[in-house]
Amino acid sequence: MSETLFKVTIDNIVIEVPAGTTILNAARKIGGEVAPPTMCYYSKLEGSGGKCRTCLVEVSKGSEKDPRPMPKLVASCRTTVMDGMEVKNITSERVLTARAGVVEFLLINHPLDCPICDQAGECYLQDLSYEHGADKSRFEFQKRTFKKVDLGDKIQLHMTRCILCYRCVLVANQLTNQREHGILDRGDHAQIATYIQKNLQNDFIGNIIDVCPVGALTDKTFRFKNRVWFTKPVDAHRDCNNPKCCGEVRLWMRGDEVYRVTGRIDEWGEMKDASNGKPGWICNECRFDKKKVSDWVIEGPTNVNRHSVISQGHYVNSVLPQETLPEVLNGRQPKLLMDIHNVSEVNKPNIELSALDRPAHSTDF
Ligand code: SF4
Ligand code: FES
Repeated sequence: MSETLFKVTIDNIVIEVPAGTTILNAARKIGGEVAPPTMCYYSKLEGSGGKCRTCLVEVSKGSEKDPRPMPKLVASCRTTVMDGMEVKNITSERVLTARAGVVEFLLINHPLDCPICDQAGECYLQDLSYEHGADKSRFEFQKRTFKKVDLGDKIQLHMTRCILCYRCVLVANQLTNQREHGILDRGDHAQIATYIQKNLQNDFIGNIIDVCPVGALTDKTFRFKNRVWFTKPVDAHRDCNNPKCCGEVRLWMRGDEVYRVTGRIDEWGEMKDASNGKPGWICNECRFDKKKVSDWVIEGPTNVNRHSVISQGHYVNSVLPQETLPEVLNGRQPKLLMDIHNVSEVNKPNIELSALDRPAHSTDF
């Protein structure tokens, strides 16, 4: 039986999608700026969406049968298309004003500590604020503060940065056999917590770091060791023994050191399905323990969006000028000329930052 297709117009672009598709997924089929930004929806996690309101759109025509516009803006991740529906995203003044308001609310309690946050450069809230935020805050009260919390020995929670999107709770619910954290309390008191500081030890729990759209959950084996735009992302895989793990990862390298291992995310910031057909989630062993190049089969440089700050200094297929130094030096490698530690004392010569199984701190520098 052939599938029923609905015709929907988003920002004046017509597309046909199967009945039951959400406005957001229809817009993602068109792609580019027509797709509303999302902070809580994550297509690979059941029940996600409907929390952050960044994906609000205007429905200027309900359907062919009932052309009345919807009175209020709707969350595109939770609203399904109707045949003949007309939707406005970036073409609607109301949407842009509302989105600016949503960003202002998301930032009310956010510490704006991007200069010291490990998520800077790959933070969706940073991008959202850049595109839709105001240049000042009208909030006159004191922001909420929390002490930072260790969730297990590899994950750090900075509750001050959390936007309560629920993604990490859904990951723990759907990928691990026991969820030990959740959102406690309500309203202004709501927070991610493990109740009496339980540790998250599950072998798949590291995926909460990848789904967190802000810097609330960070990898302690990477913290304070590098900025993401100084690293070069490389796609790699290994034969992982964990049957649930897809074994396909992204290595964040500087020189030949592996500073961080993450899953591979797609253009919407969600985990890509692996080439072996498994969902793209990776186990803690691949993420936290395999930090040597020899642990991996390197596939090649990651294709990074050229507008991303990560693409700074990341060139693929470029033709380099011929290196003349080895010739002049009779084959000796230029790096043997000087030891950076003699010149800059960046960090102690006997310490390899990428090999530290903990955040780097002042005693390492
Ligand atoms: S910690 Fe991150 S993933 Fe979890 S609810 Fe907060 S913002 Fe979302
Ligand atoms: S992405 Fe739709 S409400 Fe958050």
